[in-house]
Amino acid sequence: MAHRTAPEQQTLTPAAVFDWLDEAAELRARAGLTRTLRSRPADDPVLDLASNDYLGLVHHPAVTGAAAEAALRWGGGSTGSRLVTGTTALHTELEEELAAFCGVEAALVFSSGYTANLAALTALTDPDTLIVSDANNHASLIDGCRLSRSDVHRAPHGDPAAVAAALAARPHRRALVVTDSVFSVDGNAARLPELSAAARAHGAALLVDDAHGLGVLGPGGAGALAAAGLAGQPDTVATVTLSKSLGSQGGAVLGPRRVVRHLTETARTFIFDTGLAPAAAGAALGALRLLRAEPHRAERAREVARTLSARLTAAGLVASAPDAAVVSVRAPGPEAAVAWAADCRTAGLAVGCFRPPSVPDGVSRLRLTARGDLTDRQIADAVRIISATAPAGATFVPRPDGA
Ligand SMILES: Cc1ncc(COP(=O)(O)O)c(C=O)c1O
Repeated sequence: MAHRTAPEQQTLTPAAVFDWLDEAAELRARAGLTRTLRSRPADDPVLDLASNDYLGLVHHPAVTGAAAEAALRWGGGSTGSRLVTGTTALHTELEEELAAFCGVEAALVFSSGYTANLAALTALTDPDTLIVSDANNHASLIDGCRLSRSDVHRAPHGDPAAVAAALAARPHRRALVVTDSVFSVDGNAARLPELSAAARAHGAALLVDDAHGLGVLGPGGAGALAAAGLAGQPDTVATVTLSKSLGSQGGAVLGPRRVVRHLTETARTFIFDTGLAPAAAGAALGALRLLRAEPHRAERAREVARTLSARLTAAGLVASAPDAAVVSVRAPGPEAAVAWAADCRTAGLAVGCFRPPSVPDGVSRLRLTARGDLTDRQIADAVRIISATAPAGATFVPRPDGA
């Protein structure tokens, strides 16, 4: 590489070192991509369709009570990494119950879904592995691919034939197919049975990020692997987050016992990270036990999603056909999407707003969480507010023949 001289480096004052950040912020502002934090009051009266609390459990007494009890018994933090002092009896119970709930041999709990994904992708690959990754995968999977130092093939979104072709053409000894179970922006599901067949035909493992499937898909919310008949398969691994349907915080890798053993002994985001806080482990356990006792909650979330999508479409908006509990609605552009979400909030409804670079196809959207605890009245209010605040260009005129 040619040696570059940077004359400005010689004259830069300490105060000027970060000047380029202001220019970058200005560029983002011009592209309509400014992002700001908003502190949420505890008693926010706004109807929430923006969070990932798919089952509405975050305030359920079975969850908050278990969190409080765990904090009182075990303390505010786990005190160390899992292999040193950070594994309490609660962590072990959570791993056993999570594995049983999802129908897999074993589970390993992490401090987040993000670190669980980094662990699975780095520990289950080596330089002689090809990772075949769906183009729309979550950022944490993409980062895991980068950290793995393996070759990565970015397969077109939702295309098992392309995955099979990449696997067939590889010179690598091993391969790992990686996909979200439910894609976070549009809420569409991966074609897991076909991906599993493609992986199996070519001696590859399958890694499924079930962040948006756990608690929503499968019998009683056992997740996407259970829904696809893949739970407990010897060549299949799932990652989950405890921060969405389970109303807590943390993540886990689920799969064969020997995979969990390998991660326990080698995954850097497991070994060099403080164990999950006891309150979060307790809350997740409380949610799991509630789901086991009340398995209808998963189906209700899917039903709310179908209803929201159908009513928004009937109102002339372009809503996604949901496979789980996420519904997205197209906006004409990033600025219109931000203004639309703000208008919804003013009218009493919180919705998510996805813009580039968080959207894979450059199309900005509102993202709605079809919470399983929404009442029919709340669903009607949400549809009314979203339709009434829709910007020009967001609606289409349905053709008389319904096409
Ligand atoms: C698909 C997907 N995977 C992983 C994560 C990361 O999980 P966590 O928030 O627990 O780190 C998220 C979202 O937060 C997600 O949407």
